[in-house]
Amino acid sequence: MVNTEKFISQSIMEIKTAAGHDKVVMALSGGVDSSVCAALAAKAIGDNLIPIYIDTGLMRKGETERIRTIFGNIHLQIVDAGEEFFDSLRGVTDPEAKRKAIGERFIRVFEREARNQGARCLLQGTIYPDRIESEGGIKSHHNVGGMPIEMEFTKVIEPIRDLYKDEVREVAGALGLPKEIQHRMPFPGPGLAVRVLGEVTRDKVAVIREANAIVEDELIEKYRPWQCFAALLGLGTGVKGDNRIHGWIIAVRAVNSRDGMTADPLEIPFDHLMRIGSRITADIPSVARVVYDISAKPPATIEYE
Ligand code: XMP
Repeated sequence: MVNTEKFISQSIMEIKTAAGHDKVVMALSGGVDSSVCAALAAKAIGDNLIPIYIDTGLMRKGETERIRTIFGNIHLQIVDAGEEFFDSLRGVTDPEAKRKAIGERFIRVFEREARNQGARCLLQGTIYPDRIESEGGIKSHHNVGGMPIEMEFTKVIEPIRDLYKDEVREVAGALGLPKEIQHRMPFPGPGLAVRVLGEVTRDKVAVIREANAIVEDELIEKYRPWQCFAALLGLGTGVKGDNRIHGWIIAVRAVNSRDGMTADPLEIPFDHLMRIGSRITADIPSVARVVYDISAKPPATIEYE
């Protein structure tokens, strides 16, 4: 474990030196990693930091409004790019191709915004496990990392590149970031798209966004899992009212983990699982069935794609 105070002062120095008088852009997702980077950089270079939040249309319920509220006091640029992302995803079903489509689109949007800001320097919230998994080729898209963005920037700064997630959370606490951010569950760069099997459409994302909000509402406060979410698996037959329907199958996933590299399914009492299932099928007309995922990582990954 790093010495948190020492880490903070060293990082601030590092960012100051690396940035000089240049403007620095970063993609701020509102997750703990990018939020810690934004807080460090704001201390180091003040208004020369330009955090950019890209609303990909693949975000969780209320996410954009939340970010606006929390980071309203720094010069946050909010970009509404949902239309562009769904365009890139049309007809794409292969999981890797989906990630690539999202990653490439993200870069294009981000570069456009960075260019508009006249920034030459990029700040990234890459953490240690990201580097290990990306180097091993396990993930093709990680935040903004692993993508060809260096071409436009003279410098890339990664202040938390050597930290594990629990260390990042400690730094978040020491920096005085809100508890909500400090204990934020990891949320993948490609967003809800890795929780929709097959083609990603607006309709499917709307369904999974609602189901996910129910899962988070039921599980986060009570169990504080590493991650919990809903995924959309496909269609199955069901009966709703007097009608047989072909409705969505939703998987509830909840895991405990130290660093995301391995994970165990959360033990949830059966009556609570039943309640979650009932809420999802009652609130979302197009859902016919809900299952609970009991897979550990390995062999399963945490996300579905
Ligand atoms: P997996 O699904 O590989 O996930 O077991 C391990 C951890 O990484 C997160 N994850 C991602 N994070 N971009 C990210 O920024 C991604 O493409 C990505 N894929 C997975 C996942 O939520 C879990 O915490």
